[in-house]
Amino acid sequence: MSTLSGIKPSTILVLGATGKTGRRVTELLGQAGRPASRSSATKFDWTAPSTWEPALADTTAVYVVPPENPALLAEFVALAVKLGVTRFVLLSMRGAPDDDPFEEAIKSSGVEWTILRPTWFMQNFDEDLFAAPVRHGELAVPAGQGIHPFIDVLDIAEVAVVAVTEAGHAGQTYDLSGPESLSFAEMLARIVEVTGDPVLYTDVAPDEFAASMRALGYPDEIADLVTMLLVRIRTGAEAHLSDGVQRVLGREPRTFADYLGSSSFA
Ligand SMILES: NC(=O)c1ccc[n+]([C@@H]2O[C@H](COP(=O)([O-])OP(=O)(O)OC[C@H]3O[C@@H](n4cnc5c(N)ncnc54)[C@H](OP(=O)(O)O)[C@@H]3O)[C@@H](O)[C@H]2O)c1
Repeated sequence: MSTLSGIKPSTILVLGATGKTGRRVTELLGQAGRPASRSSATKFDWTAPSTWEPALADTTAVYVVPPENPALLAEFVALAVKLGVTRFVLLSMRGAPDDDPFEEAIKSSGVEWTILRPTWFMQNFDEDLFAAPVRHGELAVPAGQGIHPFIDVLDIAEVAVVAVTEAGHAGQTYDLSGPESLSFAEMLARIVEVTGDPVLYTDVAPDEFAASMRALGYPDEIADLVTMLLVRIRTGAEAHLSDGVQRVLGREPRTFADYLGSSSFA
């Protein structure tokens, strides 16, 4: 994109741009954003560092959906700063440890950073991990009757866009959640109210769930991490609400009903 004077305006690089958050961040940024991923017009592949520098051309800020390997993130951050990036917004997760290597890679960049720590995404029910089981009529997870404040990904994207485009968010770690804690059985019942198609909730043993993820092709560490996070919901450790959406956007987060109304279930 060029201005009349021929000077390119600063660009915000959006990584993971075809994914659940990146797609929405891209839509909200409009022309200010440069969507990038392996399948985007701007090619970006964490495992092919030769794709990084072209994607970073004329970039001043980056929305980061991290790779699996934190060393790659540290390497990317160093290159981005060298090429003129002055602000990062990192998608992390609730429960990340204080010395999380992904967050550390961003915090030690020497430029402005903001970290987003959201809860589980509502969109998992129709765009990701839970979508196929829900379509097939049975969701089996080791979460018991535990409750959790799932968040609408659109709220994460709106927070990310404010943090990446506006001043006043540098050095902040925002804990983001939805407005109400619900059990899987309650969320599935609300989905059934909208679709009319029955979905059975089954509480499975953690080992059985991890094995089912491995059978679907997920690597061991992802299967174990997801299982651990679901068991934390089961124990009640993840029932509390967070106020990051309110702090950044000055409004309440979207409800599960709001999500359903805008989802492919509607
Ligand atoms: N799901 C949840 O409930 C939840 C909750 C809290 C935090 N999180 C965090 O959210 C993150 C995932 O974000 P998301 O859900 O927005 O993304 P997503 O829907 O999982 O999509 C992944 C994105 O990354 C891109 N990608 C995959 N491999 C890549 C590679 N090698 N190089 C470059 N790009 C690659 C994909 O595009 P291409 O295939 O085109 O490359 C896609 O745009 C994870 O770090 C997870 O820990 C998730």
